[in-house]
Amino acid sequence: MSSCWGSICFLAFLGVAFVSGRPLEDIKNAQESIAEVLNLKGLEVGLNPLFSAVIKSNSSIPLRVNEMNATLDVYRQIFSSILSDNHSSSLLKLLNTTTRKSVRSDVEKLQGRITTLTEKFGPENNNSKDILSKLKEIKVGNHLVQRKALAEFLEVDHAADVILSPRV
Ligand SMILES: *[C@@H]1O[C@H](CO)[C@@H](O)[C@H](O)[C@H]1NC(C)=O
Ligand SMILES: *[C@@H]1O[C@H](CO)[C@@H](O)[C@H](O)[C@H]1NC(C)=O
Ligand SMILES: *[C@@H]1O[C@H](CO)[C@@H](O)[C@H](O)[C@H]1NC(C)=O
Ligand SMILES: *[C@@H]1O[C@H](CO)[C@@H](O)[C@H](O)[C@H]1NC(C)=O
Ligand SMILES: *[C@@H]1O[C@H](CO)[C@@H](O)[C@H](O)[C@H]1NC(C)=O
Repeated sequence: MSSCWGSICFLAFLGVAFVSGRPLEDIKNAQESIAEVLNLKGLEVGLNPLFSAVIKSNSSIPLRVNEMNATLDVYRQIFSSILSDNHSSSLLKLLNTTTRKSVRSDVEKLQGRITTLTEKFGPENNNSKDILSKLKEIKVGNHLVQRKALAEFLEVDHAADVILSPRV
């Protein structure tokens, strides 16, 4: 369930107000100094948050993994846009040289965190595709198959229960 941990970590990172997790101190400090300089507590920023649907999502865990993974990808693109030097309309161009340097370094810390989290989510699970294609090949009319399925029933029931129970 490393993917669940990934999303918990990510919620903690976003988390300021939403989750009582403990983000890494470094990340938290970086976010807070950026917040000050770029006025992230301004009214226009707080209105209509981008990711509240993701944060509050009550989808199943596998869907939440997709949602969170897609969210990380949005962050990846945003950081890439902010940090591209030659972008004359870059957010950082609004700052004076000294401040820009420290904000850039803080943004790079957050970018690194997103990279770490993305790695934890990993590539789309090839293993899973493999499992799915094998399931489709099961011959449900075969007596041996039917007996195997009955024999494994409780284990499958338990596994389904475990997946459904943690609503993070
Ligand atoms: C999930 O949330 C939506 C609205 O946000 C609600 O309509 C729906 O009933 C919820 N589903 C579950 C399973 O809690
Ligand atoms: C900006 O820099 C990238 C490489 O860092 C380059 O590929 C791109 O052409 C540059 N764009 C402009 C508008 O200079
Ligand atoms: C740069 O901007 C910061 C914050 O906006 C300000 O505190 C600082 O005095 C400015 N530095 C210079 C050299 O203008
Ligand atoms: C997460 O998103 C990346 C980039 O969009 C993709 O390459 C990767 O396969 C996705 N991973 C999962 C677990 O969905
Ligand atoms: C994914 O699985 C397919 C067959 O199930 C296999 O041919 C392919 O090499 C695998 N790819 C990776 C990256 O493991």
